[in-house]
Amino acid sequence: MPHPARIRVLFVCLGNICRSPAAEIIFNAAAEQAGIADGVAADSCGTAAYHIGQQPDRRMLAALEETGYTYGGHRARQFRRADFQAFDLIIPQDDSNRRDLLALARTPEEAAKIIPMSHWFPAAESRTEVPDPYYGGKAGFLSVIHLLESAATALAAELKTRLPLPPTP
Ligand code: 4NP
Repeated sequence: MPHPARIRVLFVCLGNICRSPAAEIIFNAAAEQAGIADGVAADSCGTAAYHIGQQPDRRMLAALEETGYTYGGHRARQFRRADFQAFDLIIPQDDSNRRDLLALARTPEEAAKIIPMSHWFPAAESRTEVPDPYYGGKAGFLSVIHLLESAATALAAELKTRLPLPPTP
C-alpha cells in the first residue's frame, strides 16, 4: 500500500479546551523533534458542544507556557462524522471519549481509526487514560502535560516508521 503524503491525526477529548488541544501542541513539538513535521497534520476536537469557539482553558495555556510550549491559536470545535474521512488516526484521551466516538462510527474501517492515547503510554504507566484536569488544580494540568509528552513522543516515533523515507541526495 502506498504511504500517504501526510498522516492526519485527530486528538479528541470532551471539551477540546484542556487535553486535546494540549495533545495537539505537544504532538506537533514531538513531530518536529522526530523530524516528521512535514509528514503529519494534527488537529483536535471535543465530543461535546459545551465550549465550541472558545480558546483553550487558561490554566492549560499557563501550564503549557511554563513547560516551554508555544500556543499557536485554537478554537474549540466538536467532532463531526466527516472527521472519519478527514483523518487517518482518531485518538480519544479517555475511555468515555472512546465510547462516544465508537458510537458514531458506522463501518469497521471508521472504528479501526479510533485508537486511545493510552496505546502510546510507557509500559510503566499505571494510568489507562489521560485524566480530565478540568476540576482539579495546577498539578493535574502539569501531570497531563507530562503524560502527553511521553505518549506523543512514542506516537511520533511510530508514525516516523510509517512515512516514506526522504529522497536520497
Ligand atoms: P477537556 O476538559 O475534555 O480535556 O477539554 C474538559 C473541559 C470541559 C469540561 C470537562 C472537561 N466541562 O465539563 O465543561
